[in-house]
Amino acid sequence: MPPAAYRSQEWFARERGRLFRRVWQFAGLKTMLGEHNAFITREVCGVPVVIQNFDGELRAFENLCLHRGAKLQWERAGRRPLLCRYHGWGYDKAGAPANIPLHDELYRFSTAERAGMCLRSFALRTVGNLVFINMNAEPIPFEQQFDAGFIASLESSSNAYDGEVITTTWTGRFNWKLAYENLRDANHPRFVHAQTLARSVDFICNVDEALVIDADAEPAPGAGRDLLRRFSWGGRDAPLRGVAPYAWRGMVERWGSDDAYYNWLAFPNLHIASGDGGHAFTIEHHVPLAPDRTAIEIYWMTAKKRRPYPYSSTVLLALMHGSKLVVGEDVRVMESVQAGLHDDAPQGNQGAFEASNRLIERWYMDLMENGGEF
Ligand code: FES
Ligand SMILES: [Fe+2]
Repeated sequence: MPPAAYRSQEWFARERGRLFRRVWQFAGLKTMLGEHNAFITREVCGVPVVIQNFDGELRAFENLCLHRGAKLQWERAGRRPLLCRYHGWGYDKAGAPANIPLHDELYRFSTAERAGMCLRSFALRTVGNLVFINMNAEPIPFEQQFDAGFIASLESSSNAYDGEVITTTWTGRFNWKLAYENLRDANHPRFVHAQTLARSVDFICNVDEALVIDADAEPAPGAGRDLLRRFSWGGRDAPLRGVAPYAWRGMVERWGSDDAYYNWLAFPNLHIASGDGGHAFTIEHHVPLAPDRTAIEIYWMTAKKRRPYPYSSTVLLALMHGSKLVVGEDVRVMESVQAGLHDDAPQGNQGAFEASNRLIERWYMDLMENGGEF
């Protein structure tokens, strides 16, 4: 794609409007929102968002008080009522300011004024343990973005996650799209991860002839809508060269029984993997911050514990250290691509193996240049 797609501020703003504000985006884990008043906060397309549990119902709101704009929840995750810290306005599950302290003395809003006050809310959908939100007032059907088989696979695997999770955010100096071009590329691990991931996973690099035909063909009118569902896939990926018999692996309810690398890619910016045959999972959410900056919000959890064991947090830390190596290798490569871009940089030459990248890029360019099809 042209260098501007990875570098330009104007492009980045257009991409937010045409892509990110229209698609369903990963927002967090249901297990982090298990109790009444549990919440998580995040920033989506530059908008502060809070997702909060109201007596078992999950709601997503803009995290800004209707009084004078203070953030309602300040922490990344926690448990407290949806209550502004500035002057104490409290909100109900409909997003209405149900409690305004000293209302009659200090504010004197009319009944009509008060009735018109409501937090901006966002559509929310859970799939197993995964929470997705959509920023659009009229969201596309979830099933238009992801096909039924993929949704079922996400649901089944994410229901296997244990509730003990560690999470952190790493920031890379690269455009988020480089991460997705990289994740659709099973050829790079033998070069980039020769000393890490590629030692335990036999990545398969086959040319998908059907994809090549589609990527080379003139797009049929109206075909764009159906393309979107094809950009996400997941499940069993490549065989593992064995799974080390660490004791903790015997303590968890493994998902599936294949000694395989599992890999889920949910377009546009979510990647989930299990590098040890369903004993543990990593979620990588690549959040665009700027044309050349991406937050990698990353979560680690094992499969559900059969029963608590004393060193489970150490297991999660070890998983995190392992990812730090592998993700660090990817980040270095992507940062080097990003750093080399300039206005007149040559465009890439992708071959048959890269047909899925080419198909997505064609759809994406049509979206960015002509408004595309959704
Ligand atoms: S800004 Fe929230 S109560 Fe005043
Ligand atoms: Fe990689």
